[in-house]
Parts: sequence; structure tokens; C-alpha cells
Amino acid sequence: MNIVEEIIKLKKENNAVILVHNYQRPEIQNIADFLGDSLGLSREAAKTDAKIIVFCGVRFMAETAKILSPEKVVLLPRKEAGCPMADMVSTEDLRILKERHPDAKVVSYVNTYADVKAESDICCTSANAVEVIKKVKANKIIFTPDKNLAAYCQSFTHKEIIPWNGYCYVHEKISEKEVRLAKKKFPDALLLVHPECNPSVIDLADEVLSTSGMINFAKKSDKKRFLIGTEEGLIYRLKKENPGKEFYAAGTVKTCQNMKLTALKDVYFAIKEERYQVELPEEIIKRAGKALKAMLTYTH
Ligand code: 13P
Ligand code: SF4
Repeated sequence: MNIVEEIIKLKKENNAVILVHNYQRPEIQNIADFLGDSLGLSREAAKTDAKIIVFCGVRFMAETAKILSPEKVVLLPRKEAGCPMADMVSTEDLRILKERHPDAKVVSYVNTYADVKAESDICCTSANAVEVIKKVKANKIIFTPDKNLAAYCQSFTHKEIIPWNGYCYVHEKISEKEVRLAKKKFPDALLLVHPECNPSVIDLADEVLSTSGMINFAKKSDKKRFLIGTEEGLIYRLKKENPGKEFYAAGTVKTCQNMKLTALKDVYFAIKEERYQVELPEEIIKRAGKALKAMLTYTH
């Protein structure tokens, strides 16, 4: 038996489900029971009947699965898979900002750790951030941690958004200059970008979408060529699912090192040895769960 067959066998014996983010390595995407963006993966984690969730992504995603399904065993095959943007906000600093703006509600991007979610009124993902901002019952919003997503949301509302100063180092590297050059090279291509990109890149885009938003858009579009402004893992999936269409990185290829840590052997040992379990204090699960469930209830 090869390692993929071993994983499938173990998965069945242990009643495990494999959830995979769109940026994971091709061989990990290929063993997914569900492949998606943060929102899709959260919904899937909340409704699965499996006993074990194997989360191939980064820690904040696995934590989200644990918060939404606390009775399940949630495994993160590489325990060091983090997200530098999520590290940019601490509960101590957030509490100070909340004290300065007692009339503001806190909207936290799902790319935060559980303790920050617990300090928030509602969460959002790249797929529903604008909808969440519009629906939140407050005219003042503290938005953590992504300043670019905050700026993107600000362009859709008159509410005052107080942005945290965080960003994603992968999307930050996508420069306006290289995107302009890519557009010159492929003038007939549609430019799809992630809202974690800089405002100067977002201004050039034909569509601003979450990773699964890009998958759905490209599938339905009658255009043949696309420039993709996000992490390279998505381009593998776009090409695989749309063999007649062409996809190019909008500039040089950008890689999230944390998303690429998980290998097949890590998934195998994760299921075999039930490692590495995500564990969170009950009180954090309760408060963070409120913010996540508010997002899942209020948005589509
Ligand atoms: P999506 O929810 O759009 O997949 O984005 C997750 C992420 O980490 C982007 O950098
Ligand atoms: Fe975090 Fe950026 Fe990697 Fe997404 S791509 S996990 S935001 S570092």
C-alpha cells in the first residue's frame, strides 16, 4: 500500500475527516474530503459527523474547527503551522483599544487566535467581511488584525472602521508594479485578487474574492485567462478544475511557508497517533464560539 492508500484506510478505521485549505500542497489537496476557504472549512467543521477532524492548514483554522466542534478531536498535523498575521494582535493590546473606544464593536478576521476571538463581538472571513461590517449594529468598528481587509471594507461603508495595523506578508509582497506588468503581458486576462492585498493592488482588480470565491468565479466565467493575486496553492486547484482555462500568478509566485509545512507523512502520523490535538480552555471556547457563531448565523 502506498501512503495515500494507508491514509485513506486509517481515516476510515478512525472515523476521521480531512479538511484542507486551498493553499496546501497539491498532494494534500488531492486527499481532501473537503477543500475550501476559511469560511467553507468553518461551516464544514461545524457540521461534520466524523469523530476526528484532521485540519491541513494553519493553527487559527484548526482552532476555529475546535471552537465550532468542541466535542470532536481536532488534529493539526504540524503543530508549528502558524500565521504571522494572527501573531500581530494580542488580547492585552486589544483590551487597551477597546477601553479607548467603548462604543465600538470588535470585528475580528478569522485569521486570529482563539483568545482574540474571545475578546471580539463577531468574526469574519475574506468571503463575508463586507457583509459582516454592514450588519454589525454599531457605527464604530475595531477591525483586527488585517489593515488591508479593513481598508477594503471601509470602501463599502460610512461606518468608522478603526483598523489594527496587521497584514499578511505573502499578500503584502504582491506589488502594484508587478501586477501592472502582468496586466500588460496578458491584456485579455481578468485580474482576481484577495482582499489581503494592498489597496493599490485591489484598485487594479476586476474582482476581489476569497480563495473559494476565485474558484467559483473562474468556473462560471466565460473568460479563458486569469491573473491570480494570491498564494500559489490556489493556482494548482484552479488549473486542475478548469483544464480549458489559463491561470497565471499576478507577478512572481508567492508562497506561504506555513501553509506548505504539512506533508503526507504528517497526515498519516496525525491520524495514526492522534497528534497534534488542539486544546483550548473551556471559557475561551465559549466566548470565541459566540463570535464565530454570530458570523455563521448572520451571513450566507
Ligand atoms: P481564505 O479564507 O480566502 O481562503 O483566506 C485565508 C488566508 O489565510 C488568506 O491568506
Ligand atoms: Fe497567514 Fe498570509 Fe499565510 Fe494566510 S497566506 S495563513 S494570512 S501568512
